[in-house]
Amino acid sequence: MTENDPCKLNIQGADGEVPSPENSEARQAYFIRRMQAYVADKSLTMRRPLTACIVTFGCQMNARDSEKLAGVLKACGFVLQDDENADFVLYNTCTVRDNADQHVYGRLGRLHEYRRSNSFMKVALCGCMMQQSSCVEKIRRSYPFVSLIFGTYNIYCLPEYLWEVYHSRKRVIEIWDGSEQTSDALPAERKFSFKSGVNIMYGCNNFCSYCIVPYVRGRERSREPEDILREVRRLAASGVKEIMLLGQNVNSYGKTLEHPLTFAQLLEEVCAIDGIERIRFMSSHPKDLSDELIDTIARNPKVARHIHLALQSGSDRILTAMNRHYTKAHFLDLAGRIRGCIPDVAITTDIIAGFPGETAEDVDETIDVIEKVKFENAYTFIYSVRSGTPAAKMVQLPEEVKKENFDRILSAVQASSKERALALQGRCFEALAESLDEQQPGYVTGRLSDNMIVHFRGDASMIGHFYQVRLDECRGFYYFGTVINGQESAE
Ligand code: SAM
Ligand code: SF4
Ligand code: F3S
Repeated sequence: MTENDPCKLNIQGADGEVPSPENSEARQAYFIRRMQAYVADKSLTMRRPLTACIVTFGCQMNARDSEKLAGVLKACGFVLQDDENADFVLYNTCTVRDNADQHVYGRLGRLHEYRRSNSFMKVALCGCMMQQSSCVEKIRRSYPFVSLIFGTYNIYCLPEYLWEVYHSRKRVIEIWDGSEQTSDALPAERKFSFKSGVNIMYGCNNFCSYCIVPYVRGRERSREPEDILREVRRLAASGVKEIMLLGQNVNSYGKTLEHPLTFAQLLEEVCAIDGIERIRFMSSHPKDLSDELIDTIARNPKVARHIHLALQSGSDRILTAMNRHYTKAHFLDLAGRIRGCIPDVAITTDIIAGFPGETAEDVDETIDVIEKVKFENAYTFIYSVRSGTPAAKMVQLPEEVKKENFDRILSAVQASSKERALALQGRCFEALAESLDEQQPGYVTGRLSDNMIVHFRGDASMIGHFYQVRLDECRGFYYFGTVINGQESAE
């Protein structure tokens, strides 16, 4: 089930003059109204609804953007579906690693097949990959059936682009280098009725030497706290119980505001909102995570017992080359303080294997951190060259060395996650029932505060509610459990 987020755009009213681009909210509302009329008319002549499908690649930021893009398509009158055999197909792309790019090219090739049976199909691409001119050029040359391309800064213009795509014979390609405007006013069609992401900031200023994100998402911009709190209140009023505050480095939230506010202060205010029962955030940078934040999490039971803290490497030499601005000792000390102050917290991480110059000794240092912190989970990536980043100009390791380093790190990570998961056996925690268990009829899948997945007996009526669950049987990285007393937890 999905629900519309309340939308700031006023899409009622008769068509008048096209509002100027400066008045972006009125302008996009105008094009939504025009598209509503167009889609209704087309549906009549085609004697079926017009369908749309959004495929999202990449991180939580992209997932949230896709909810807004879906909100626009729905407001225009398209019926949303998961099947890519639709009238309007939009890929919201990621370019963090080369395999993300390759994935999109592969999917586009297959999409071409669907177009043979539906000549009315329009294909559009947006997101981080489109901020790279080489990717846009390749699509322009090799995928002539793509009729719309836009980037990360102008997703709020989708209504206008839709109008152009359906009323001009030309391809629409609009990539911007930046924008003062955001997509905050767009309606959002949430994937889950009971949980939602909330952007608190955009972009990143850290320029880790391997990372493309600052180039495709721009400089760090924090949203005004009042706007964030208003959005969270509205979400709570529409039935949302869990929110995830989103930013590439939430710990530096608020520094650029006219009236600076720390992330811990913002979190405290979000905790005070009635109806919101669980608050997550993503991601934390180890250089900026403050004692104030650790204390705020420890004092507020609404804040999830889960901190995602990207390590990237345990070697000081590699951390310096990565431009991460912390040392192994700092990370270990920080993880120790977090575990010491927040009982039952899960610490998860990202690690890159095969960064230029990484030796077996550097990998030993990374494994040492894994064994000391005992991460509950870690996403391990093989380093991928991103052109235009400083690390792309460094001397690269041979593929087999990267793979060897990756395999060593992965086995350390798996041992650590297994040990952490097993330690929870027999204990009771609150789980939010999130979906029907796809593998096991008669079961639902829930998530604990620490992000552990647990499957337990249940049905669709339980989704979106909290239950006390005993963790009975560990299956590696998830649990089978039992609801205690069959009662929903007091919310
Ligand atoms: N801002 C987040 C942070 O610093 O925690 C990370 C966001 S990034 C989208 C997610 C992860 O992708 C990073 O933590 C890093 O491990 C990985 N990553 C980024 N660039 C990469 C590259 N060029 N090759 C491999 N992995 C990369
Ligand atoms: Fe990329 Fe570093 Fe920014 Fe994370 S903090 S998005 S890894 S540049
Ligand atoms: Fe990918 Fe862009 Fe996120 S590059 S990881 S979708 S910010």
